[in-house]
Amino acid sequence: PAAHTADLVVFGGTGDLSMRKLLPALYHSDRDGRLSPETRVIALSRGGLTDADFRGKVDAQVRDVVPVDDHAMWQRFLGRLHHLTVDVGGQDRTGWDALRATLAEDRDRVFYLASPPRTFGPFCREVDRAGLVTPRSRVVLEKPLGHDLPSAQRINDEVGAIFDEHQIFRIDHYLGKETVQNLLVLRFANAFLEPIWNSLWIDHVQITAAETVGTPGRRGYYDHAGALRDMVQNHLLQLLTLTAMEPPARNDREAIRDEKVKVLQALRPITGGEVGRFTVRGQYTAADGMAGYLEEPGSTPPTESSERVETFTAIRAEIRNWRWAGVPFYLRTGKRLPNRRSEIVVQFKDVPHSIFPGGSPNRLVLRLQPEEGIELHIMAKEPGAGEVSLKPVPLSLNFGETFPARVPEAYERLLSDVLAGNPTLFMRRDEVEAAWRWIDPILDAWRSSPELPEPYPAGTTGPAGAHELLGRSGRAWHEEEA
Ligand code: BG6
Repeated sequence: PAAHTADLVVFGGTGDLSMRKLLPALYHSDRDGRLSPETRVIALSRGGLTDADFRGKVDAQVRDVVPVDDHAMWQRFLGRLHHLTVDVGGQDRTGWDALRATLAEDRDRVFYLASPPRTFGPFCREVDRAGLVTPRSRVVLEKPLGHDLPSAQRINDEVGAIFDEHQIFRIDHYLGKETVQNLLVLRFANAFLEPIWNSLWIDHVQITAAETVGTPGRRGYYDHAGALRDMVQNHLLQLLTLTAMEPPARNDREAIRDEKVKVLQALRPITGGEVGRFTVRGQYTAADGMAGYLEEPGSTPPTESSERVETFTAIRAEIRNWRWAGVPFYLRTGKRLPNRRSEIVVQFKDVPHSIFPGGSPNRLVLRLQPEEGIELHIMAKEPGAGEVSLKPVPLSLNFGETFPARVPEAYERLLSDVLAGNPTLFMRRDEVEAAWRWIDPILDAWRSSPELPEPYPAGTTGPAGAHELLGRSGRAWHEEEA
């Protein structure tokens, strides 16, 4: 299909996200012929750059992250890039006037806010004041969308005063990952899974996003975020909704998001005294030559509140509905863990009556990272003439091998959707707020607890409490078999 021609205005366009994710994703789209020839990228910052300065900066910083094998193509891409200097909340209107003069009347306009959430409201007011909001305008909001429910509501109100909900695209880049979209196909384009996708057959679900990276240089952000806000409120809860949602009647934006929000609304609140039983917090300490969280180099020194920041969390969640009653959903994420691994593990119940010794229940693993794939662990007979001996073996689908074409990065998919005006893979206002509504009581209880997060040495699998969270009910985290 012919790509839409749009003007993509990126506020914070010279920043880290733009250089590391957005511009590489746009270049890939361009290279694959998915960007209309007239589409332009207009970066806004306070930096006072000319177009040529900005192109030079992108040439120096982005060229290393993307394979530039075609020089002419790269030059054509650079030619799409422009820069304007704007002042948000100030008196100087020159930049806004220049932006008005630059934007084409007959094109879609996408305002992409790759900037801190406190700028979302003021930026939207500026574009409105400059008369730049047209019916064909959209606005893209990066995470974090607030730091609790009231702040998220405030941002949503401020942005919602200028743009209609259908024009607002809230990014959660996990929704752009191939395996995540594949989860919907796996569940709703195959007949065999759905009948057993419930509490009769499933014992529990584990959703893990483990990272090896720490937080060097991010203290300013991370001290106020922590793993619960940074990863669970958005990414992990999104994975949970897609795993648990009811089959939507249509593959359309509202039908899918309606089902997702119902899952969030059905999450059993974890409040007060229960928080200590159903949640675990950890913070990494120095080990094996790696700094601890408090020693990480950064622009700001640690404060008292740094000690209270969780770099790891594990939660036992429950969904109160007919399908999932009694099935725990264990969520886990952390920095400085031994492996980078994100996956959804669906642990089935054991056979009702076993006639062989040594079997173990089936398990379905959907891997997002490092390699995208799906594995169904089944029991098989080990070859041999003696006693029957069982062995769990995986039926596995490795996406890289099955589909040798390059797997697009999450941001490529999401940017194409924004340019095409398709919000299915973006979070609707009620979804974001329902997620905060569940997160806030946990944050409150942690804040008022005298206890600090449990320490875990960098490079290990997290604090002991995380293992006890499952161990109590005779369960264990699925760790990759060596
Ligand atoms: C971001 C978080 O949203 O997701 C980071 O702010 C985290 O702390 C990142 O490292 C993980 O993304 P991915 O795609 O590498 O799993």
